[in-house]
Amino acid sequence: MFAFENVKYKEILDIPSLEIDSGVTTAIVGASGAGKTTLLRLMNKMISPTAGLILYRGEDLSKIPSVDHRREVLMLSQRSLVLDESVKDNLNMGFYLREAQAPSEDALKAVLERVKLNKALDERASKFSGGEKQRLALARVLLLSPEVYLLDEPSSALDSETELEIVEMLVEHAKSHKKTIVMVTHAVSIAERYADVIVEIAKGHIEKRQVKA
Ligand SMILES: Nc1ncnc2c1ncn2[C@@H]1O[C@H](COP(=O)(O)OP(=O)(O)OP(=O)(O)O)[C@@H](O)[C@H]1O
Ligand SMILES: [Mg+2]
Repeated sequence: MFAFENVKYKEILDIPSLEIDSGVTTAIVGASGAGKTTLLRLMNKMISPTAGLILYRGEDLSKIPSVDHRREVLMLSQRSLVLDESVKDNLNMGFYLREAQAPSEDALKAVLERVKLNKALDERASKFSGGEKQRLALARVLLLSPEVYLLDEPSSALDSETELEIVEMLVEHAKSHKKTIVMVTHAVSIAERYADVIVEIAKGHIEKRQVKA
């Protein structure tokens, strides 16, 4: 899905070669400051490499218009963005931005159930807990159904039981819908249990890329 060729980003990342496979879940692990978020931002075209080439489906990413790219490759950032609006408006935000038809209320309720967020559509999201906001932001991304999900610590604010349920749901979703997930996680045990590929980053370098049997 993605191929990195001699990619550098400032002094932060130096990746001679890396493949991100389509239709599977790749976990990115590594210490704080290693460059995990920077890697996702490169894939989302939020930033561009200072040297080297990133290919997306074999195409030079620098030649693909950012807006088109971000429809297919959606990033959920590390600090979830939740508007001081209702749950419904938060979920529909991506559709307003795309000037697309908003989903039905049934579809909105279904996605809340998938992320285990037991809240009404007219509740205000600003008073939600950190973990509730995180699940609301995740629900918004799931509704938009991109080809590639770039998820930056999508379950970091959750208790460990909910975390397992959410990650399992995401991985199942990727498998059954042939979607690609690239997920940063601090939890090595989660990466080992659920990811198909684990990429370990240390100080801006790929330490290891492990494909699970
Ligand atoms: N735009 C930037 N300009 C300069 N330095 C940056 C920029 N963005 C990130 N950095 C630095 O690059 C390094 C990697 O940052 P990054 O956010 O990718 O780390 P991370 O692995 O996601 O860490 P964490 O687990 O804490 O989220 C850090 O030292 C950070 O301070
Ligand atoms: Mg980060």
